[in-house]
Amino acid sequence: MSTTERTPGRPRPAVAELPAYRPGRDASQAEAEHGITNAIKLASNENPEPALAAIVDAISAAAAGVNRYADHRATPVRAALADHLGVDIEQVTVGSGSSGVLHQIFSTYVADGDEVLFPWRSFEVYPIYTRLAAGRQVDVPLNDELGVDVDALIAALTPATKVVVVATPNNPTGVLCSTADLARLAIAAGDDTIVVVDEAYREFAPADGDDAVRDLVGRYHNVVVTRTLSKAQGLAGLRLGYAIGHPGVIADIDKGAVPFAVNALAQAGALAAIAHADEITERVERIVAERSRVVEALRAVGWWLPEPAGNFIYLPVGDGAVALAVALEKVGVVVRPFDGDGVRVTIGTPAENDRFLAAIADHAPVGR
Ligand SMILES: Cc1ncc(COP(=O)(O)O)c(C=O)c1O
Repeated sequence: MSTTERTPGRPRPAVAELPAYRPGRDASQAEAEHGITNAIKLASNENPEPALAAIVDAISAAAAGVNRYADHRATPVRAALADHLGVDIEQVTVGSGSSGVLHQIFSTYVADGDEVLFPWRSFEVYPIYTRLAAGRQVDVPLNDELGVDVDALIAALTPATKVVVVATPNNPTGVLCSTADLARLAIAAGDDTIVVVDEAYREFAPADGDDAVRDLVGRYHNVVVTRTLSKAQGLAGLRLGYAIGHPGVIADIDKGAVPFAVNALAQAGALAAIAHADEITERVERIVAERSRVVEALRAVGWWLPEPAGNFIYLPVGDGAVALAVALEKVGVVVRPFDGDGVRVTIGTPAENDRFLAAIADHAPVGR
């Protein structure tokens, strides 16, 4: 088809100007581009271990029933999550990944020129969803430790701020934001502003640490916590994320849900994952131990790294980010560059992490 003719239709200006979301590159893309074999992908913060057998069995069993629509509100999953979290079922909603839930949140609250406030650098869908909703992005730089500067966020609040989003651990830097700080933010924001706490990676943070559901939901009615089964539970390809908040807020968010967005297989897999929480915890512990090993190896040779609490580490190499990522990719280690800022490397299997450590040894460490 000719690409020179005009594209039919008239997208909204917000959409026309929008860059497409760029996922992490696949190993096969790197292999084809560089003429190599055995590339590994450490670019999308995926869990390196295949899903638990019990989850695969549950999905397989559910496959026979896909001629029927699934439960629109995923009631059994919401009930199981609510039970697990110690909240009411009306406080929980689900979506197609937490990206889907975040999309619902933005489209519920943000329109023409409304301000959306978040730290930057952070998860790349926040600017995309803001622009898609025709909102106005207000971003605040991270602090010197590459964590969230809550005082700066509070100072940037205005009557036009409809949504504030904070990822903790932050993607891509991995740094945690305390619930004490988030509570200050929620109070300063007030009930006309929704404060989204994106805990996609919370399982990789210390188990005895802060917990936004326990510490914030119920106390601050404007706080919505989002979580996902994509990371710790290893169900990225299945798409199930969820939000926990005030029942009224959850009901508002749910009005814009795509009907049956959480499919039957995702619901079956999620129920099995929730039922096998102990095995998931063991897997998380393996990844956290590997993260410590990688961080120690890098620090020992002089790298400065922000304190990681997710299933990834971050090399703040500034302008060298793309060049470093390309060099690593040429030797088969696919990582995620953020142009001008740094390179994010997902923690993989021990063998994959060894590959990364061997590849990075050819590059001068960037310290402080
Ligand atoms: C901070 C953060 N939030 C949310 C997500 C969305 O994950 P999913 O849509 O798979 O639940 C990601 C994925 O990388 C993320 O990094």
